[in-house]
Amino acid sequence: MRPRVPLTIGVAAFLALGAAIAVPNIASASATLGQHAAARGKYFGSATDNPELTDAPYVSILSSEFNQITPGNTMKWQYTEPQQGQFSYGQADTVVSLARSNNQSVRGHTLVWHSQYPSWVDSVPANQLLGVMRNHVTNVAGHFQGQLIHWDVVNEAFEENGTRRQSVFQRNIGDSYIAEAFRAARAADPTAKLYYNDYNIEGLGAKSDAVYAMVQQFKAQGVPIDGVGMQAHLILGQVPSSIQQNIQRFANLGVDVAITELDIRMNLPRDAAKDAQQANDYRAVVNACLAVTRCVGITVWDYTDKYSWIPSVFPGQGAALPYDENLNKKPAYTAIHDALAGTTTPTTPPPTSPTTTPTSGPGACAATYQIVSQWTGGFQGSVTVRNTGTSAMNAWAVRWSFGAGQVITNLWNGSVTQTSANVAVRNAPYNGALAPGASTSFGFVASWTGSNPAPASLTCGIT
Ligand code: XIL
Repeated sequence: MRPRVPLTIGVAAFLALGAAIAVPNIASASATLGQHAAARGKYFGSATDNPELTDAPYVSILSSEFNQITPGNTMKWQYTEPQQGQFSYGQADTVVSLARSNNQSVRGHTLVWHSQYPSWVDSVPANQLLGVMRNHVTNVAGHFQGQLIHWDVVNEAFEENGTRRQSVFQRNIGDSYIAEAFRAARAADPTAKLYYNDYNIEGLGAKSDAVYAMVQQFKAQGVPIDGVGMQAHLILGQVPSSIQQNIQRFANLGVDVAITELDIRMNLPRDAAKDAQQANDYRAVVNACLAVTRCVGITVWDYTDKYSWIPSVFPGQGAALPYDENLNKKPAYTAIHDALAGTTTPTTPPPTSPTTTPTSGPGACAATYQIVSQWTGGFQGSVTVRNTGTSAMNAWAVRWSFGAGQVITNLWNGSVTQTSANVAVRNAPYNGALAPGASTSFGFVASWTGSNPAPASLTCGIT
């Protein structure tokens, strides 16, 4: 807690000046990410790893700022069953008991994965591997029974194109290994919610389609799945514009969604512009989760650049987390904090994710969407229309669909109709004529709540 006395004096001074509006901001600024998330019905957590727990300043922030913990390594097969039939839980238990002493929930990570398993698993005869996998799941999930909110039962089972990854489990057991792992996990720990977890499934695409189809099938067949974990190891400036829509479609299948391993890496070195972009990117992810009731929480893959896994795996990249290597808060921290708190000031540089649909041929045009500025509940946007065809146009129409309930309240240099999410804007009497290569723009003000993603695509034409 912050010292009460100076705070009280400060508030009294503000009130004396008639600036009562400052009070809630002071109060919310002192709350942690975990507290703000809890107030929104969600958690905000961090991964951690046993070697880091000797770093007292690190542990102090880990223990106070977050209300959920994921062991980054020590529940993996390599640690929990290093020799066949010999289970070892000491390190994982250390993390779980630290979390419990801090009133933090724990996600279990992970029971079945193609990586970080001991080499003896590769030597198990094919017809025995299902039994070995079930035994592993039964023991590990059984050991932590009642102590975890979630298990990442199976991790990273799909390739980018949506086919199954040819892991030792896939090759020797076949497609059924995932469902079998979920069934064994449910039997061993009926209280943990059971998750499928993967990366590059945050936006719409072949891989998330494959996971979607699997979840749909599991639901139809009664396979016990409760959630989908989107790892969200993201790249600066590349938060998928469809992230909220994608979270929502999984939620609509009747499963929860968690952002399980969030980090947003950049090419090193850091600079102010990259930090500002990263803040916007973190805000976009937090807002997407906040906008979907069944998005239950967000975990960063450790909270400080001091202990991030990124530099060792992506050479030349890093600075992916909301605290720097000296445990100082970065702009990303403020963005996460303010998004969770529902305060909006200051909204640092506006999110600019231009969406363009270029076309060619006679009468063809391209539309580019940009957010100019954004504030609590509202934003100003701009769309540029360019004649990409070979002949002059004398009229144009741009259409898009808002993904998050945005409503245009005022538009200039065009005439607008909006029917629920669908927006159509036609030229004003004075800007319909465009020579080949020429462009014009219109502007608008709109409202938003929860999140404000740019439309996935715009269409442009003469009618
Ligand atoms: C990473 C850990 O953070 C590293 O310490 C370890 O060396 C490799 O694994 N997806 C996952 C996580 O599901 O388990 C990975 O964690 C990061 C990628």
